[in-house]
Amino acid sequence: MPDAIFSHPRLARVYDPLDPDRSDLDTYVDLIDEFGATSVLDVGCGTGTFAGRLAARGIRVLGVDPADASIEVARSKVNSDNAEWVVGTAPVVAAVPARQKHYDLATMTANVAQVFLDDKEWLSTLLAVHSCLREGGQLAFESRRPSDRAWERWTKELSRQLVEVAGEGPVEDWVQVTAVDGELVTFDSPTIFHADGERIDSTTTLRFRTAEALRQSLEEAGFLSVEVRDLPYAPGRGWLFIARA
Ligand SMILES: C[S@@+](CC[C@H](N)C(=O)[O-])C[C@H]1O[C@@H](n2cnc3c(N)ncnc32)[C@H](O)[C@@H]1O
Repeated sequence: MPDAIFSHPRLARVYDPLDPDRSDLDTYVDLIDEFGATSVLDVGCGTGTFAGRLAARGIRVLGVDPADASIEVARSKVNSDNAEWVVGTAPVVAAVPARQKHYDLATMTANVAQVFLDDKEWLSTLLAVHSCLREGGQLAFESRRPSDRAWERWTKELSRQLVEVAGEGPVEDWVQVTAVDGELVTFDSPTIFHADGERIDSTTTLRFRTAEALRQSLEEAGFLSVEVRDLPYAPGRGWLFIARA
C-alpha cells in the first residue's frame, strides 16, 4: 500500500514542484549510455520524471507503480509513444509473457529499493525484475548506507519549505522522523495547502539494509554479477547497485 504522498491525488500533483531538483536521475541516464540500453523497466516510477527523460531520448520505457495517483500524473506529463504505464508492482509486469526477457535495463530510482520492508516482498520484486530482463540485462538501484544515519537530518527544522505552486498557491511541507527500529526508519511528511488550509499527512517507513544483505538477495534472485559503486550524487552516503541477469 503506497504512502499518501504518492497515492493521494492532491499530493501526487505537487510531488514534482515540491522536489524540482532531480539531478539524482543523471546517474541513471548515464547508465543508459554506459549499457547502450534501448528498453527500460522503471520500477516504482512515481510521477514518471525519469521515464519521461528516457522517452524523450527515444528509449522505450515501461513505468510501473502501485500509486495510481502518481501514474495519473506521469500519464498527463509524458506524452510519448515510447512510454507505457502500469498501476501495480514488478510481479504484475512480469505476469505478462511478452514482457519476459524483454528489457535491457531495470531501474529503481530514489529510495524505491528501500520501500520494501519485508524480505519476501523484496525477493519477489527482484525475481520479477530478473525475469523481465534479457540475458545480460542489468538492474540498477540505490540504497543509503546505514552508517550515514541520513534520518538524523530528517527533521522539521532542517527540511521545512514553503513553495509557491502553480494552481495551488503556497504549499508547505517537511519531514520529521518519528521512530528508528533497527533497520526501519519511520517519518511523517505533512503537506499544508495554505490557499484553503487543507493539511494532508503521510507516513513512510524505509528499510536501511546492509550492502551484504542486498548483495545476497540479488544472488538469491538469480543475478550473476553484482557491482556496488559509490552513489555518484551522494558520495559516501549511498550505494549504487548494478546487477547483471
Ligand atoms: C520516493 S518515490 C520514487 C519515485 C520515482 N522513482 C522517482 O525517482 O521520482 C518511491 C516510489 O515507490 C513506489 N512504491 C511503493 N511500493 C512499491 C512496490 N511494492 N513496488 C513498486 N513501487 C512501489 C511508491 O508508490 C513511490 O512512487
